[in-house]
Amino acid sequence: MAPSEGLLVRRIREGTVIDHIPAGRALAVLRILGITGREGLRVAVVMNVESRKLGWKDIVKVEGRHLSSEEVNRIALIAPTATINIVKDYRVVEKKRVKLPPVIEGIISCTNPTCITRKPREPVRPRFRLLSEHPLRLQCVYCGTIMEEEDVLEQLEEQGG
Ligand code: CTP
Ligand code: ZN
Repeated sequence: MAPSEGLLVRRIREGTVIDHIPAGRALAVLRILGITGREGLRVAVVMNVESRKLGWKDIVKVEGRHLSSEEVNRIALIAPTATINIVKDYRVVEKKRVKLPPVIEGIISCTNPTCITRKPREPVRPRFRLLSEHPLRLQCVYCGTIMEEEDVLEQLEEQGG
């Protein structure tokens, strides 16, 4: 634990700590998880603290909530360096790295306005093939449009929480 972190937020008893988030992306991580603060969960967001590995990082701690593997994978879209710590009785019982699946479904929408996934009448769930992880590049399975990292970040940062 970075010395400065202890000054900001205490350890949690039970839940999930998402650590090593690139600085500034903690709120986008919460948005991806659909956590708004209205669920009554106790959430701590720590932004722009020193990290030995990254220089600067964000941390999100969610008490009383565990993440599905789909949720863990989604986090990789905007925080590929994140570590997911599962905490039970104050101890980290499991540490997972996030990993993008080869096909990403339903999180982001295609930037091509004429794509079938954007037709209002017969909506088709958006689906992208992972072309590259660093930098992030996705390709729409339906129309072939390539989405760059900036497009994905822009969308995930815009979506209301
Ligand atoms: N943590 C927490 N509550 C606990 C246990 C851990 O909030 N009861 C947090 C720590 O503050 C840290 C993260 O979970 O941000 C990971 O904890 P730990 O594995 O103990 O820290 P490190 O060894 O520094 O992790 P890493 O090796 O992944 O950097
Ligand atoms: Zn498309």
